[in-house]
Amino acid sequence: MHDPMLHLESRCIHGGQAPDPTTGAVRPPIYTSSTFVQESPGVHKGFEYSRSHNVTRFALERCLANLESSGLAESDDRTSGGFAFASGLAAIGTCLELLDAGATILCMDDVYGGTNRLLQRVRRRSQGLKVVLTDLSDVDALERAAKEHRPAMIWAETPTNPTLKIVDIGAVARVGAACGAITVVDNTFASPILQRPLESGIDIVMHSVTKYIGGHSDVVGGALVTRRLDLAERLRFMQNAIGSVMGPFDAYLTLRGVKTLALRMARHCESAMSIAKWLERQNAVDRVVYPGLASHPHHALAAAQMRLNGASAFGGMITIFVKGGLPESRRFLEQVRMFSLAESLGGVESLIEHPAIMTHASVPDAERHALGISDSLVRLSVGIERVDDLINDLDQALKAC
Ligand SMILES: Cc1ncc(COP(=O)(O)O)c(C=O)c1O
Repeated sequence: MHDPMLHLESRCIHGGQAPDPTTGAVRPPIYTSSTFVQESPGVHKGFEYSRSHNVTRFALERCLANLESSGLAESDDRTSGGFAFASGLAAIGTCLELLDAGATILCMDDVYGGTNRLLQRVRRRSQGLKVVLTDLSDVDALERAAKEHRPAMIWAETPTNPTLKIVDIGAVARVGAACGAITVVDNTFASPILQRPLESGIDIVMHSVTKYIGGHSDVVGGALVTRRLDLAERLRFMQNAIGSVMGPFDAYLTLRGVKTLALRMARHCESAMSIAKWLERQNAVDRVVYPGLASHPHHALAAAQMRLNGASAFGGMITIFVKGGLPESRRFLEQVRMFSLAESLGGVESLIEHPAIMTHASVPDAERHALGISDSLVRLSVGIERVDDLINDLDQALKAC
C-alpha cells in the first residue's frame, strides 16, 4: 500500500506493506532462505540470493521508503528507494561509497561520534576523502564552505548528537543543489514522524534504526532512503556489492517496532518537554538544551521544521550541563534508577549517558572541547514510562550530586 496521502500513523502500519501473496499472511514472514531455486540458469521468480533479494528486508525497506516520502513507486525501484543495513554505520559506510576517491565531504561539525570516526580515521585514509567539518546550523557558514570547498556530498544531522543543534534542512537542500553535491540528512534523532527531509529536497535520508525506528533496544540496524532514481540504482548496486545488509530476523523485528513509531514519538516528545521544563528549574543543573525550550538558540527553526500532526514537536532527547564537573555528573549518573546508564537512545526505556566518556569518546579531545562536549554534559533519552516516575528518579539522583 503506497498511498502517500495516508496519515503517518497509518503509514507506519500499512506503508509499503501487503499481505504475503502466497499465503495471505498479514505480516511478512521471516524468509530465512539464503538462496532460491531457478527453473533454468537465470530464470527465477525475481529472487536469486538473499544478500541481493530478501522478502522480509524488502518489506522493511518499502515501509521506511514510504515513511520518508521517497516518492518512488515499486515500478520505479523494487523497494521504492529504501535500503536496510546491518547497522547505522554500515548504512553510512555504504552511502560514502557513492563518492569517488579524493572527494570532499562537507559535514556538520557535531555529528554522532562514530560518523566522525568513520570519516576522519577510516575514510580519510582508505578513500582519501577530504573532510570539512563546519557548523551547518549557521547558514552563512554552510554557504561559505560550499562555495570554498565545492563538496561532492553534504552531510547534516539534525537535531545533532549530543548538543542538539538544529540544521535548516531546506537550506542544506538548496545549497547542495546549487553546488551539485549529494545531500544527506541523518534523521535518527527526529525519525520520519517529526521530519521528512526528502520532502524538502534532500537526496538521501540516513537512519540508525537501532534507535527510534526499532524502538525497543533489541536490534541494531541502519537504513538509507532516497527520492532519486539514479541514486537508488547506485545504492542498490552498492548494497549488494558491499554486502553489509540487514538480516531477515532483524528486518522482521524492526518492522514490528515501526508499527508503533508514531504513538511512541508522540509520547517521547510530550514527556521530554515536561522533563526539560522541570530540569530548567533545578539548582543542580546549569543549563538545559532542548529544542522545545524558548531558551534553545534554534527554537524557532525547530518549531517550524519538527512537526507532529500539525503542531511543533521536538523529540525525546535532552542534553543538560550538571553544575560542577566530572565528579558531580558521575555521582548523578551512578544514582539514577529508572533511567539506565547506557549508550544508545530512542527506546521505550529511558537511557542516560556521558558523551565525553561514552558515545563521543572517539571524537578527538580538541574537537570535543570546541563543540562544548564537556565533562558536565549529560545526555538523556526520554522513554515512554510514566513521566512522574522519570522526574522522581532524576530528582533523587540530582540531590546526590
Ligand atoms: C545520530 C546517529 N547516527 C548514526 C549512528 C550509528 O548507528 P549504529 O549504532 O546503528 O551503527 C548513531 C548511533 O548512536 C547515531 O546516534
